[in-house]
Amino acid sequence: MCIIINKQKNTFHLCNEEISYIMTVLPNSQMGQLYFGKRIKEREDYSHLLEILPRPMASCIYDTDKAFSMEHIKQEYGTFGATDYRIPAAEVIQENGNRISEFCLHDYRVEPGKPKLPGLPATYTENDAETDTLILGLEDQQAGLRLELTYTVFARGGIIARSARFLNHGGQTLHLSSAMSLCMDLPDSEYDWIQFSGAWARERYPKVRRLEQGIQSVGSLRGHSSHNHNPFVILKRPNTDESHGEALGFSLIYSGNFLAQAEVDTYDTTRVLMGIHPNGFDWKLSPGEEFQTPEAVMVYTDRGMNHLSQTFHSLYQKRLARGYWRDRERPILINNWEATYFDFTEEKLIKIAEKAKECGIELFVLDDGWFGQRSSEHAGLGDWTPNLDRLPEGINGLAQRIEDMGMKFGLWFEPEMVNRDSDLYREHPDWILAAPGYRSSHGRYQYVLDFSRKEVVDCIYRMMAKILSEAKISYVKWDMNRSITECYSAALPPDRQGEVYHRYILGVYDLYERLTEEFPQVLFESCASGGGRFDPGMLYYAPQAWTSDDTDAVERVKIQYGSTYCYPLSSMGSHVSAAPNHQLNRNTPLRTRANTAYFGTFGYELNLNLLSEEEQEEVKEQIRFMKEYRHLIQFGTFYRLKSPFDGNITAWMTVSSDRKEAVAGWYRTLNGVNMPYTRLRLQGLDPEAEYEVEVRGSCERGTFSGTQSFRIGTRCGDELMNLGLITSDASSGQNENAESCDFDSRIYILKAK
Ligand code: GLA
Repeated sequence: MCIIINKQKNTFHLCNEEISYIMTVLPNSQMGQLYFGKRIKEREDYSHLLEILPRPMASCIYDTDKAFSMEHIKQEYGTFGATDYRIPAAEVIQENGNRISEFCLHDYRVEPGKPKLPGLPATYTENDAETDTLILGLEDQQAGLRLELTYTVFARGGIIARSARFLNHGGQTLHLSSAMSLCMDLPDSEYDWIQFSGAWARERYPKVRRLEQGIQSVGSLRGHSSHNHNPFVILKRPNTDESHGEALGFSLIYSGNFLAQAEVDTYDTTRVLMGIHPNGFDWKLSPGEEFQTPEAVMVYTDRGMNHLSQTFHSLYQKRLARGYWRDRERPILINNWEATYFDFTEEKLIKIAEKAKECGIELFVLDDGWFGQRSSEHAGLGDWTPNLDRLPEGINGLAQRIEDMGMKFGLWFEPEMVNRDSDLYREHPDWILAAPGYRSSHGRYQYVLDFSRKEVVDCIYRMMAKILSEAKISYVKWDMNRSITECYSAALPPDRQGEVYHRYILGVYDLYERLTEEFPQVLFESCASGGGRFDPGMLYYAPQAWTSDDTDAVERVKIQYGSTYCYPLSSMGSHVSAAPNHQLNRNTPLRTRANTAYFGTFGYELNLNLLSEEEQEEVKEQIRFMKEYRHLIQFGTFYRLKSPFDGNITAWMTVSSDRKEAVAGWYRTLNGVNMPYTRLRLQGLDPEAEYEVEVRGSCERGTFSGTQSFRIGTRCGDELMNLGLITSDASSGQNENAESCDFDSRIYILKAK
């Protein structure tokens, strides 16, 4: 990896073995973009890559030049109105009302490693040899504003991390009404745009469409990254598939309002923008003040979508997630939410915990309802003290009982929220976000605490830290169950109200930072009504997240599949829940619920006492299996094999780094009669190796079991990857294989001999 600077030709070339990212200083001193893609050789001169053609209707910078128009030049951080008409990377309003900016290169520096972003989550390095960073210092003299564009190139993987910082060193007060983390002008528009969209309980479905002239975008204005759209998009060449072809991934390490956008102009060039959503954003920069954008990560590959995802997985698993749990196998947990909802007593919990322990579960998590007057959604949020009617010995007593059983104890919080019926609200009614004179809207009968205020964050910190330091707590589920409305802070002046959404998220990050630092061995799992804040920002603090409130196995296959485009399996909270399922009323086999949940952090979300003895034995066997294979599953190389969005069968697999072991999941939505022959082409194996292959679940000879493995035989790696693994079965029909059913699934285990 290196950053090559050619002072004569004014070019900057960031590269590693996989990629080149080349910029140039334009004749007007602004920064031009020349290339981002597969590594190309270093040359003396790249000036021929700068396309400047005279165009009809162009507005031009120089009196004597009919070609030099910013509209038609690929740039690094475009601004609006001085010959460029595309949506800009930033907009600055000066005291005289002027919105024109001109950021000209003033200086630059190269630093080994990667600087931290104060108060914000970001990728990091463990030693300086892992990355190099280029910081371009640009100046708008008129505004007295410095803009620093930071580019970090990683030694491995086609990764560039970017962010922008504004420093007001002039005498006037400025307002930033837009400040993107990334602006990337691409030379063509031959791409499919893939966004990850959905709703509560069906998060992150990939949606694909061809880029067209005009603007296509996704974003959130809900105050959290949202169930609706994820801050991640892919541009792939139309012929790119999972194992071949070019793709670019753009991911924003941020948990609040965001925008991800591609604008294709009339000459078929594409501008990608990513950053904080400009709607509702207005950041006041008084003289001497700075503003730092969140970080955006771009990944390029020419080796298909699986490779793009694997690059994000290893970056986010190893260099975004942090701390004690980063590289550790995640504990198998039981969560009482779907087992009891609010209807529990300590004894009921203990009974669930005892059975869980007997089955081999390692962590018992007490969900909502343990604090204040919380016996329904209407009361208690904000009062983070145990309800002694329910838990006579408090959290300390319950945690101790669980520990004495030989399990760890975890606890649910929703730190950012308050019910009106709570002591906290009665004491501080002005601590919620509320627009003066207007009604305050509720979501689930709760209101959003003004986390832009330090005293509010401090108060919640004190309550949480007290519980975490007094009781034996090993895990925290941090929930956030409503979107923000009436985003106004009583503590900020009128001209800073446009800062509230971002300051709110900074407050959330601050609380996370303090708690994770003070309690480094506590495993944090983030949650927002399931996957409403399943984003890289959260991953920096909490190495795992509750993927969705939908625990139905068939739905979960889709949700987890969509999530794997960006996020590693170790980040995906996934549990076995009861049948019929509570969200859909669907019955799926216990083995399928487990076969789905294995591909994540794994746990249970039901009352195990209500299962039959046979089912309890199956659960014990599932836990034994997961303990044996979780390291491989959570930290191996993950491949998508067959998409649930394309047909009846879904498949995926993880392979160990030495390619000696692999586990594949196979899921069939509907059973069929006398079905066609099927094969599954595996990936990532050693073509030279011979693998012993076993299956758990029904198999081609009609044998079936949720718990036992059946030997299929010895197969060669090259055969499995090219010809495929035969997965055909006779299915029902003659009643020989009656156990094969709808929502069936199998796990294939491969071990090199
Ligand atoms: C949210 C979470 C659930 C559960 C409930 C408790 O919906 O996503 O897992 O914790 O809140 O109220």
